[in-house]
Amino acid sequence: MEHHQSIGFIGAGNMTTTLVQGIRQLHQNLPMIVSNPSTTKLEVLKEQYQTEITVNNVEVVLNSDIVILAVKPNVLPMVCDEIRTDLKKEQIIVSLAAGVSLVQLYQYLGQEMMIVRAMPNTPCAIGYGICGLYVDVKLKFKVAPLLSYLFEGLGQLKWLKDEKQIDDIIAFAGSAPAYFYYFMQCLQKVAIQRGLDDTLAKDLIANTALGASMMVTTKNDISFSQLIEQVASKGGTTAQALSVLEENNLSVIVEKMISAVIERAQNISN
Ligand SMILES: NC(=O)c1ccc[n+]([C@@H]2O[C@H](COP(=O)([O-])OP(=O)(O)OC[C@H]3O[C@@H](n4cnc5c(N)ncnc54)[C@H](OP(=O)(O)O)[C@@H]3O)[C@@H](O)[C@H]2O)c1
Repeated sequence: MEHHQSIGFIGAGNMTTTLVQGIRQLHQNLPMIVSNPSTTKLEVLKEQYQTEITVNNVEVVLNSDIVILAVKPNVLPMVCDEIRTDLKKEQIIVSLAAGVSLVQLYQYLGQEMMIVRAMPNTPCAIGYGICGLYVDVKLKFKVAPLLSYLFEGLGQLKWLKDEKQIDDIIAFAGSAPAYFYYFMQCLQKVAIQRGLDDTLAKDLIANTALGASMMVTTKNDISFSQLIEQVASKGGTTAQALSVLEENNLSVIVEKMISAVIERAQNISN
């Protein structure tokens, strides 16, 4: 299958770099082409991941079976306008743009096109990501097998039943690595204040996060509460830490944080 397909990316930013890396893990010879107005990021992609590069978005469209729209939502209407007349019905268009609905995408590109919305996160670069995908149910049988095959190296793929769930993917996966990085950064700051060196602090925190995550994913039958209980014996050190989180209403902060993400996701293209 691989030798007959090619993937094109419009925009050479964080998400294109993430996807190119993740896809290359399993598809070393897959032709990929990337466009961007400036060349610095393009040169890096060419050098490190053997992609073709161009400053012309139409060239990507003319040389790809799958066209991935990886520009910011505010630039998307202009890019769609630019490529619309060169797109063919057989091509699969994948939009990564947060907050731009399928209805809007069909308006920009034409009702006859095969359009998929995808919401990956940055750990897709190393094969530990999650990518939510949504396509109209009538087109799913045409696009899902190929995209599932090409995106396999990214991590877990979740085909969604409802487009609205894309906003949940943004809140709980797309944006979520940054919440964990932020929490780890806060821990590291305090560790350094206590006199630990940067590296020791980072190793302690990152490996604990990795171990905790592995516990959750490998011990599927154990709930979060049970895992917490395994660490936090009554009257012990962990119980003290958790009571500070509870007294300061971390769960309320988390609710507000998720509401803020969802609200932004819904309004981003306006
Ligand atoms: N970052 C994430 O974790 C994440 C997760 C899921 C989805 N997304 C979505 O992915 C999309 C891209 O996000 P990103 O984080 O990769 O943004 P980014 O790093 O800012 O990348 C966007 C790229 O588009 C380029 N660009 C600007 N105008 C262009 C044009 N007319 N034609 C072609 N390329 C153009 C920019 O080039 P210059 O810098 O040279 O101007 C930049 O390299 C967004 O729609 C976002 O909602 C992002």
